[in-house]
Amino acid sequence: MIIRKAILTGGGRATRLRPITTTINKHLIPLANKPMIFHAIEKAVEAGVEEIFINTNPGETELQKHIGDGGHWGVKIKFYEQEGGPQGLAHVVKCAEKFIGDEPFMFYLSDNVLLGSLKPLFEKFYSNKTDCLLAFAKVQDPQRFGVPFFDANGKLIDVVEKPQTPPNDFAVTGLYLYGPKVFFKAFENIEKSARGEYEISSIHSYFLKNDFKVDYEKIDGWWKDTGQPSDLVEANKLILENMTEEEFKANGQTGDIVGKVHVGAGAIIGKNVKIIGPAIIGENCVLEDCVIGPCVTVGAGGIIKFAKIEHSIILNNCRIESDIKIKDSILGANVRIAQNQNYRRFVLGDHAHLEF
Ligand code: G1P
Repeated sequence: MIIRKAILTGGGRATRLRPITTTINKHLIPLANKPMIFHAIEKAVEAGVEEIFINTNPGETELQKHIGDGGHWGVKIKFYEQEGGPQGLAHVVKCAEKFIGDEPFMFYLSDNVLLGSLKPLFEKFYSNKTDCLLAFAKVQDPQRFGVPFFDANGKLIDVVEKPQTPPNDFAVTGLYLYGPKVFFKAFENIEKSARGEYEISSIHSYFLKNDFKVDYEKIDGWWKDTGQPSDLVEANKLILENMTEEEFKANGQTGDIVGKVHVGAGAIIGKNVKIIGPAIIGENCVLEDCVIGPCVTVGAGGIIKFAKIEHSIILNNCRIESDIKIKDSILGANVRIAQNQNYRRFVLGDHAHLEF
């Protein structure tokens, strides 16, 4: 039975990404000028998924507005809320049981950035006829993740959520494939963890201790969830670097441009502008006397003068008119940075972060 259905996450509080997430759902933060969750949807569609179920925070409307019914990707997309509010990732899946029925499915954490196709993982899942396929990646801080435990013979024997002393440096990534019904059977047998959540790792631990067939793949070139601002900037970079020339679709490029650069329709590249790829300049931007790139995305309607910007994400309608060097930064929508010869003047929202 092939996987036609997928559950994607669209909820969560994302407090570590404040203040950006004060006004925007984390999953709509653009990476390579495209909402993060669009990358997840595209991965699922490319692997053959036809129906996607996205869980949202109560009262969410923005995700629905941006994503629509899936017609854009030629698939069906439905949104649902977790009954009784957030109670962990396993509960996100449990709440979608009525949509999944007795089919196999993928569960994908939309804040995980994956490079490359999911097709090889799907193929492995099909050919080995497993109950569950997990993907492991090497990380520097395994204690922040679900961690696989192996016995002396290298056999996978358990998955533990955020262990204090991880026995290896693998993390269970946010990409899970499940055979028909097994997830919901396991859910009946797990308890909430000490932090009050139905952990996804408890499901996998149950599988391993009850002779379900759990397979795994170690993946390279993968990059972890975008939990912190620095992760976002890094994810933006990775996606830009891995985009093909074709995806940049040179559009209205003029001036001093090096490498893979996309300039959106209506953008005006004025005098003394250097753009170093990979970089994306959004629609209707105006650039003058500035150096942009590498690894920069500027949202639509940005105005940039006198600045040097590298390795950063600039959301829509920012206005930067100052002789300033910006690096490793995220600027929310409508941010304004202006020149002032005499002193610094700030209007900073809660949780703003500034270094100079
Ligand atoms: C969640 C899962 C964890 C997994 C991680 C991958 O953790 O609970 O098992 O390794 O996603 O991104 P969270 O990011 O919610 O802390």
